[in-house]
Amino acid sequence: MEYSPQRPLIVAHRGSSGKAPENTLAAFRQAIDDGADMIELDVRMTRDFELVVFHDRSVHRITGRRGRIWELTLAELRRLDAGSWFGKKFSGERIPTLRQVIEMLPANVSLNIEVKTDGDRRKGHALEESLLLVLHERNFLSRAIVSSFNHTFLLRLHHVHPEVRTAVLHFPVRNITRKPSAIVKRLGAMAFTCSVAQLRTRLVDDIHSHHLTLGCYGVNTRRQLEKAMRFGVDVVITDWPAEVRKWAEHARRA
Ligand code: G3P
Ligand code: MG
Repeated sequence: MEYSPQRPLIVAHRGSSGKAPENTLAAFRQAIDDGADMIELDVRMTRDFELVVFHDRSVHRITGRRGRIWELTLAELRRLDAGSWFGKKFSGERIPTLRQVIEMLPANVSLNIEVKTDGDRRKGHALEESLLLVLHERNFLSRAIVSSFNHTFLLRLHHVHPEVRTAVLHFPVRNITRKPSAIVKRLGAMAFTCSVAQLRTRLVDDIHSHHLTLGCYGVNTRRQLEKAMRFGVDVVITDWPAEVRKWAEHARRA
């Protein structure tokens, strides 16, 4: 997530989730084909402490079944169909593990691992340790950035593993009372990510004057991309990476 003359960096949100079922290998393959620089995915911990790629607390919206991720084992989750809801041709897509995604990525694509903790009331450090185990085992630390809306988690992760690069996600509220740069620094992070609707000159200036990276999610239309570029956003997170790349090139030429 460093500055580059080709910015904004284009991140596929849950994979190319406009074209394939979110957070599946099909969506990640599509993102690679679409030329995404980075893939964003959501990670949750199963009942047996495995890391799976899944957005919601419950499996219902995606699989039509009942149950929360932390109540189900990896084996139980792997039996579910995570693709049919999106389209018949994706039937049989499974909920992937983080390891599986890391293994299928080409060397030029990195990963934004968003850690979801909402609803999961288990105490302890299992989530941080499982994550670090996977990242170290696959020698993936330099290609990963970990983000979360849970700032307590980010702080804990930074204390125990300061070698992990992190990005702060900010809830889509209009008024940010504390300076975003102060939030990022307190958590030992390198980037601040907000929704496109939250972009304000004061926020952007504050982040950039502290030489931090600014990410923006929900960039799914040409208008939203142009807004993000006007504000000088460094990283855009989108369901449509191929289209965003095209619009960005066009805007740079204009
Ligand atoms: O990482 C940005 C974005 O993914 C945050 O929202 O709900 O899509 O995980 P959500
Ligand atoms: Mg996410």
